[in-house]
Amino acid sequence: MNKIAVRLTVNGQEVVAEVKPQMTLLEFLRTQLGLVGAKNGCARGHCGACTVIVNGQARRSCLLPMARMDGTVVETIEGLAPNGHLHPLQEAFLAAGAVQCGFCTPGMIMAAKALLDRNPDPSEHEIKEALKHNLCRCTGYVKIIKAVRMAAAALSGRTAVSLAFPQESDVVGRSVPRVDGLAKVKGEPLYTDDFRLEGALEGRALRSPYPHAEILSIDVSAARRAPGIKAVLTAADIPGRKTFGLITPHQPVLAEDRVRYVGDPVALVLGETSEEVEEALKLIKVEYRPLEVIDSPFRALEEHAPDLHEGGNVLAHIKVRKGNIETGFAQADVVLEGDYYVPFIEHGYLEPEAALARVGEDGVLTVWCPSQSSFAFQKDICATLNLPEEKVRVIYRPAGGAFGGREEPTVQILCALGAWVTGRPVRMVMTREESIAVSTKRHAEYLHYRLGATRQGKLTVLEARIIGDTGAYASAGEAVLFRSAAFAGGPYEIPHAKVDAFAVYTNHPPGGAMRGFGSTQPTFAMEVMMDRLAEALGLDPFTLRELNGWDVGKKTLTGQILDHSVGFKETLAKVKEALSKEDLPQPRPGRKRGIGIAAAVKNVGLGSGMVDGAGAILELTTAGELLVKVGCVDTGQGSDTAMAQIAAEATGVPFSAIRVLASDTHQTLDGGVTTASRQTFVSGNAVRIAGGRFRSALLEFVSQEIGYPAEKLTLKNGGVEMLGNTQRISLTLQEIAALAQERGQALRAEYFYIAPRTYPLKERCDNEEFDFEEYRLHFAYCFGTQAAVVEVDEETGEVEVLKVIAAHDVGRPINPLAVEGQIEGAVMMGLGYALSEEFRLKGGQVETNTLAKLRLPKITQTPEIEVLVVDDYHPFGPYGAKGMGELPLNPTAPAIINAIYNAVGVRINSLPATREKIKELMGEKKGITGPRSRQG
Ligand code: FES
Ligand code: FES
Repeated sequence: MNKIAVRLTVNGQEVVAEVKPQMTLLEFLRTQLGLVGAKNGCARGHCGACTVIVNGQARRSCLLPMARMDGTVVETIEGLAPNGHLHPLQEAFLAAGAVQCGFCTPGMIMAAKALLDRNPDPSEHEIKEALKHNLCRCTGYVKIIKAVRMAAAALSGRTAVSLAFPQESDVVGRSVPRVDGLAKVKGEPLYTDDFRLEGALEGRALRSPYPHAEILSIDVSAARRAPGIKAVLTAADIPGRKTFGLITPHQPVLAEDRVRYVGDPVALVLGETSEEVEEALKLIKVEYRPLEVIDSPFRALEEHAPDLHEGGNVLAHIKVRKGNIETGFAQADVVLEGDYYVPFIEHGYLEPEAALARVGEDGVLTVWCPSQSSFAFQKDICATLNLPEEKVRVIYRPAGGAFGGREEPTVQILCALGAWVTGRPVRMVMTREESIAVSTKRHAEYLHYRLGATRQGKLTVLEARIIGDTGAYASAGEAVLFRSAAFAGGPYEIPHAKVDAFAVYTNHPPGGAMRGFGSTQPTFAMEVMMDRLAEALGLDPFTLRELNGWDVGKKTLTGQILDHSVGFKETLAKVKEALSKEDLPQPRPGRKRGIGIAAAVKNVGLGSGMVDGAGAILELTTAGELLVKVGCVDTGQGSDTAMAQIAAEATGVPFSAIRVLASDTHQTLDGGVTTASRQTFVSGNAVRIAGGRFRSALLEFVSQEIGYPAEKLTLKNGGVEMLGNTQRISLTLQEIAALAQERGQALRAEYFYIAPRTYPLKERCDNEEFDFEEYRLHFAYCFGTQAAVVEVDEETGEVEVLKVIAAHDVGRPINPLAVEGQIEGAVMMGLGYALSEEFRLKGGQVETNTLAKLRLPKITQTPEIEVLVVDDYHPFGPYGAKGMGELPLNPTAPAIINAIYNAVGVRINSLPATREKIKELMGEKKGITGPRSRQG
């Protein structure tokens, strides 16, 4: 196609170029000008990550063809901080904690700048309207709104933004700015797709269009001959193991005889340009024989259903047995029964999957990619390529969000395979549609509950049957359903229980890890049941939960006697108190107001008898900085900053002099997977202990150098001080680094921390005659209670969440601002789970194939979120911290659903509670008296 000439101004510079007219402004900025601050999250106008300012207006640059750009004036994030001085919006985003993964940040800041340029003092409503095209999956938007207001105040000269990176080392418990925040607010290259490897081939997989089919033949000969194509690979080209998987290698790297969902790859095309790769993909001939599509776990469980895998359609059946449910039912005065459904959920991280791979001159294959563990991906790549670990290096690139969805590889193994076979660097970036179709999902679950209690409100029994749709392959399905079973009863002591949880294969995308990891689904069922029970007993919902809630000395559903850091009841008390102070205005005409509460518990760490450890290495660099090397990854949750804070506290090195290097298989120790809210605890402890050793090594070195006793030296405020000596600072860190270099001595320390021992789930959880310790399923738990205030439109069923009060026991918060951000982000994700989100399929084909169709919550839906932190010190956590990234999601949906019932008297048993569903139920309710519960 003919090129056209365009002349435009970008960040004050005139740019003249010849481009294809259909090239978008986003592509032009990123590939022609190297301005990668604007991100490609969807290429369809659904996410706003590509937002720049064009002629004074915020515009999504992926929607603008270059044919329309001649004569325009474009501003990008790179033009906001000339001469290194941050714009007040950039400062405010950092200071307010409005940055997490950072992928949405440049687009958000540019949209906000366009607003402030035309309206220097916007209202909250105006801010929400201006940013309504910009999605953020991490922050919950609260701090973004706050940041825009802070910047407005600074620009008008009312209040300056206060932003400081502390020079001190006593920073645990302080809301210091993120260590990666500056790069993120400046739009500096961070993410995998921001980088280009010279001479790289483009890689793309051909994926099955069938949810279930036999592969009769694959003919790639024509594609191999296509222009620009270097290689077309199939399963036959894999030198090693042909399957991968986080827990068991179960999923085909390239399918060879059968496909089990529409994401299964059958061939990998590698070519010079993405256009040539696209053309070659069309030339591959695959002959399929379609097979029956198992599109429901109930069909999969039928006796004559075809088996999706050897061994049948049940991946796992988890049993929890405690006491005797017949006794429990006999003791109950009230028994309620209910059926619940929660759908598949797409993680919705804004950065689509990407990887770069290259074989170096030393023969080592290096792969750069976001993940939740470089080490786990390294193992899969080594197995696929039949290579030893020293030949494969995986380097973490910052992830634009993860939420569990980056535990399994998607393009990373294929990218490595392409580079290894061709000897050329390879780049693979998924489209948003491909990402949605291929990646793992939160399990859809069907939950049947029976819950009994005495007239006084003491729970006596729980019987639950949970069917989880685990999709086409094992992934983390067994572990997820294990969590569903273990947490089926919430944070309540129940003497008699029988829980059966099944992970069942279907022809859907694999069910995998997602924030909450199987505890989210039963929390919905259990907390709605608790609300019904409170009503049936005539009890206040707080009272019922207080009567049965966990405390130190109580026994969990799996038989563990809780021995420390159980702040659950304090979360209940805090929410109750906050609610009592609420002075809510009258609901608007035609709307009903409702308040609902819900509570939750979640494990910290892997538990279940697994060895849970992580390593850390601390080194003094030649520049006199402390380099902290950890295996954990910061996918936005802030672990790099938490590790830097712990390192500062443990060593005495100023926070501002600490750098973090995360998850590089050739430089760091393994930290295990960043999952299960475990890294603050395990990597944090590794850094803390290594920090103490580093400090001793450094003081010993200085002691020998200056001939002064080590026990009379202290490392503080950027140097070594001599206690009891008038000479305050004898050596700075830079001077010590220079001395060590001169002596050829490395000042470093490392430590591999193993968390307290846990034990596998015992099917029978009665531990009266046994060693209590052997029932310790987890070494720590975090807790939370939330209240939701909603208004429901009586005509349309539309729900507006006005406020969420969220109290959470996180142990000691290492960084209170980051903890708040995690809670707000999780609440917003829970709001989406409650009201709008669903990953939907029909006959195994994906219906919700765009970000817009997934209905992730937007800034316009942001309620007021009041965060209350309960600091229940954990004796083994680093400085008393536990972990908390997942739990705050769990209570939100049931709290909202209970609030809807409180408002309009309809019980929602299947998520999401769309307005159509609520409207229909409100219609049905007319003529029905009393709540829709069955009592026996
Ligand atoms: Fe432009 Fe998503 S990349 S809106
Ligand atoms: Fe907004 Fe991650 S910080 S998407």
